[in-house]
Amino acid sequence: MFRRNKITVIGGGATGATTAHLLALKELGDVVLVDIQPGVPQGKALDMWESGPIEGFSMKVVGTNDYEETRDSDIIVVTAGLPRKEGMSRNDLLKVNSEVVYDVVEKASKVSPNSIIVVLTNPADVMAYVAQKASGFPHHRVMGQAGVLDSARFRTFLADALKVSPKDISAFVMGGHGDDMVPLVRYSYAGGIPVEKLLPKETIDKIVQRTRTGGGEVLSLMKTSAFYAPASSLADMVKAVLLDERRILPVISYLNGEYGERDIYVGVPAIIGGNGVEKVLEVDFTADEKEAFKKSVNSVREPLTLLSVGPKA
Ligand code: 2OP
Repeated sequence: MFRRNKITVIGGGATGATTAHLLALKELGDVVLVDIQPGVPQGKALDMWESGPIEGFSMKVVGTNDYEETRDSDIIVVTAGLPRKEGMSRNDLLKVNSEVVYDVVEKASKVSPNSIIVVLTNPADVMAYVAQKASGFPHHRVMGQAGVLDSARFRTFLADALKVSPKDISAFVMGGHGDDMVPLVRYSYAGGIPVEKLLPKETIDKIVQRTRTGGGEVLSLMKTSAFYAPASSLADMVKAVLLDERRILPVISYLNGEYGERDIYVGVPAIIGGNGVEKVLEVDFTADEKEAFKKSVNSVREPLTLLSVGPKA
């Protein structure tokens, strides 16, 4: 007897609620929205569930403050924690969000011991590391969301410069989810044509820089963090797992020797399927790319050293 997938989204804020609705709209499974605020996840879930007859989805969306209702979830999406405010770096959220993520993942993983965890909470690379420690899950069942979002911004800006559909832009970003992330121009194509053959270097350089600060650009405009494209990015990863798509996506994955790095979570191209991170893919680097990636990895290692991973004191 087939049963529907069950997806838990922790955090009923802008990103979590938008993600929950997208997951229902895409009919990826029944959705449980969890938040600590009494009534908020319940009200938001009821409201989006009631869009079902109009949008044509059959999935159930429920909200709760009780992790018991998340029991036996196939996938746990973590958006809980504080979003950036203007003037903040993602690392400014390190202490408060590492406690939140440890707490919610410890609770959720206990009742869904076979689930896969996808973490968006910032700083996302470090929060993926925290989530793996809190759950004790094998590393491949814990991943972070950042590269799909950063790559979507990169692709959007390239498509805009080329005046073509973003659907025909293939490009990805590696490294930490910070201002020194690494959009890989050499691996960027428009309909199979290298973008370096189609755009002047100065235009590409501007696009690379705009991608790196893409989160900050939205933040400076609306004074709070982006949530539409982050939610779409989470839904893309959830779909790859639940449908065992074996997509090649840029995902915050655990490195155990790949790219010469160990004991760190950072954004790399990986095959994403039913087991989570099926395989990390190692691409060749030029000397400049290698240096940029190393710099970006070091920007993740630094906050990791400040972290005391464990239950709230
Ligand atoms: C961003 O880049 C929220 O970190 C996320 O917009």
